[in-house]
Amino acid sequence: METTEAFLGVECVDCGTLFDAETATHRCPDCNGILDPAYDYDSIEITREDLANRRFDSMWRYEELLPFPAESAITLDEGATALVECPDLAEQMGVGNVYVKDEGRNPTGTFKDRGQSAAVTAAVEHGSDEIALASAGNAGQAASAYAAKAGLDSNVFLPERSGFVQKAMVEVHNGKLTVTAPIGGDSQIGDAGSALEDSLRTEDWYPVQTFVTPYRHEGKKTMALEVIEQLDWDVPDAVVYPTGGGVGLVGMHKAAKELRELGLVDELPGMYAAQSSGCAPIVEAWDAGEDTHVPWTTVDTICGGIAIPDPGASSLILDALRESNGGAVATPDEAILDAALEIAACEGLELAPTCAAAVSGAFELAERGEFGPDDTVIILNTGAGNKDADVLRSHLGDETEH
Ligand SMILES: Cc1ncc(COP(=O)(O)O)c(C=O)c1O
Ligand SMILES: [Zn+2]
Repeated sequence: METTEAFLGVECVDCGTLFDAETATHRCPDCNGILDPAYDYDSIEITREDLANRRFDSMWRYEELLPFPAESAITLDEGATALVECPDLAEQMGVGNVYVKDEGRNPTGTFKDRGQSAAVTAAVEHGSDEIALASAGNAGQAASAYAAKAGLDSNVFLPERSGFVQKAMVEVHNGKLTVTAPIGGDSQIGDAGSALEDSLRTEDWYPVQTFVTPYRHEGKKTMALEVIEQLDWDVPDAVVYPTGGGVGLVGMHKAAKELRELGLVDELPGMYAAQSSGCAPIVEAWDAGEDTHVPWTTVDTICGGIAIPDPGASSLILDALRESNGGAVATPDEAILDAALEIAACEGLELAPTCAAAVSGAFELAERGEFGPDDTVIILNTGAGNKDADVLRSHLGDETEH
């Protein structure tokens, strides 16, 4: 297995044991906890100038802080996305600056590409030839693309409610698609997860599932590395993130701590989890001051990517919010869709409904007085608006100007 110099192995977030990444491939062999890639930060010598001299061309330009070297990565040049200044939004929110980190510009249109680039690289390094996952849609599409690039087979389990684009593109990438549909009721992510679990009893597939592989949050952490570098190392005051399983939020918080550990920055950005009021287990736990969530019973939101009623890593998400002095906010779908239309109309940016939860969440936080007048607020647009153009257009209804 080829790894980077400072990579030590994978450490269990529950029992603290450090394992060899060659043999510990997924959850903790001792206690089934989540495994987290660990590094010897003292041995990493990287400066702001070193990074400035590298091309801004993919997330693998941060290879010292990733487990695998860039040259052996399964990559489609994911990452290196634009950070777009949004003066209209800043004015509306009464803050110094608002920027949208536009992850819609990734190869398959979402930030999921970063996680799958790292996870599929790990699958190859572990000698697997067939990956599998259950997903709300975008991660499945990304996984099938990276599997195609690596020459692996992919098995993707999606709930019926996933979008047409995601389902279609899994098959276009030659992935094997299973759509789960329980009788009487909407199929949600949990059904896809159960179907995957059933298959894994008999199939020798390599899971690239959220927080089952240690590498998805590791890939997604590069979003924070980029944002901070794009702001000329000025740490933003707030990062508002549309939160489902929390993979990106946990990864970005880790990255900020790593930059602090390396002496490249002094502070951490406040991490904010934005959810829909129709599925807000993290916000509920945050408001109640709890360390972990209670599963949400009735999911009622159009935002499929964050329709995650039982996020297994809630304690890590809530830790990140607390440690970074951030918070959590839920807004109703109506406000989320309004925000998607507002940002498309005033800033020209295309956000899928799931992602617009971060915009309406930021508006709500601003209203509550959470931000200062000079604050820099980052909104994560985790995925491209055109994946769900039908939902956005139908929210517009007939109220268009001709
Ligand atoms: C567009 C989009 N945004 C956000 C999320 C939630 O991601 P996370 O699991 O990192 O919270 C998803 C997950 O499916 C997604 O597709
Ligand atoms: Zn453990």
